[in-house]
Amino acid sequence: MTMTAVRTPCSRHAAGDCMMHAGVEDMVDKAEDMEDEADDMEKLIIRAAEIIRRGGLVAFPTETVYGLGADALNARAVARIFEVKRRPRFDPLIVHISDFSMVYELCDHVDERAEKLMRAFWPGPLTIVMPKSEIVPDIVTASLPTVAVRMPAHPIALRLIEKARTPIAAPSANPFGYLSPTSADDVREMLGDRIDMIIDGGRCPIGVESTVIYIAGDKKIVLRPGGLPVEEIERVIGAVEIESHEKKQKPRSPGQLPKHYAPRTPLVIASADEIRTGTGKREMRHRRCGLLAFKKPTPECYHNYDAIEVLSDKGDLVEAAANLFACLRRLDRRNLDIIYAEPVPEVGLGRAVMDRLRKAAWKASSQ
Ligand code: TXA
Ligand code: MG
Repeated sequence: MTMTAVRTPCSRHAAGDCMMHAGVEDMVDKAEDMEDEADDMEKLIIRAAEIIRRGGLVAFPTETVYGLGADALNARAVARIFEVKRRPRFDPLIVHISDFSMVYELCDHVDERAEKLMRAFWPGPLTIVMPKSEIVPDIVTASLPTVAVRMPAHPIALRLIEKARTPIAAPSANPFGYLSPTSADDVREMLGDRIDMIIDGGRCPIGVESTVIYIAGDKKIVLRPGGLPVEEIERVIGAVEIESHEKKQKPRSPGQLPKHYAPRTPLVIASADEIRTGTGKREMRHRRCGLLAFKKPTPECYHNYDAIEVLSDKGDLVEAAANLFACLRRLDRRNLDIIYAEPVPEVGLGRAVMDRLRKAAWKASSQ
């Protein structure tokens, strides 16, 4: 949501730039502006909710990435998501809810550990896979006996689900296999002409998709590391297993194919040393090389690469995750032959960042 800033001239600070000396009148104006914007957003959400109820598709912001939503209980509407994204039907969708009671309608059995996680982390970037109930159409779960459920922590997403009065099935709003969108413009660029509405809620604060966990019997398996660090989950339910996708033929989470979240430009993960010394560039002498740096790179790097994006100047993993897809998208637009990515430490959100980088690198490394 874009908020209008009120700028008031002030003798002590640069003309037009001082917010400290805004008068009472300006503050009243600002409050009114904000109220108007909130009204406009509410109207937009009501329109979007009607579209969902009529079987249409709406892209909406969540705290992780933008989702492409349809009524989860309407199989035809959900089928359109698969068409628009060109997503294979074997890859199930996450069902988004706004109210705890919805879990018990969507799931046959809700494990005690799942309930603990919901209480601790919902609304938030955690998706829980549980045994599904009869009301969930097979197309949503790709005929699996389980359903993935999440309560997002974004006010627009929550209000949309509430107003639609139905759970909303939503994958990330990108063509299958490509980078997930973290702004409304990203969605517009990729799917704008194929969907019914996009709600612009500004940039997604977390920037990587939710953590997906499967809970059943004695199993607690993280199927996809994401916006909620595994360490936080373990604090609530003890040690969990983390599924590795490289060795498995048939992953438990069908969407976790080795190649995913990928830019069009081939990407390789280089060691910090290779990156610092520019070896990557020397090896690819005749090619245009880009660098996705974790921290502020050394000055030599600026000579060695045709384009550089920095995930976080100060090496902060939360900031790095938030910038990941936008940085990759910008590099992907630079007509490069190859992108070198600097690895990040695999703790906290670093695990999600490395998971996405490995999947983006898979094609290049397997050729
Ligand atoms: O942050 C997010 O999770 C975003 C926002 C929009 O909520 N959504 C998202 O959805 O990333 P999608 O479809 O791009 O990824 C969902 C992942 C896929 O890897 C899929 O295979 C897995 O969740 N999944 C869904 N249902 C499952 C199930 N029943 N069993 C195992 N994995 C499941
Ligand atoms: Mg996705």
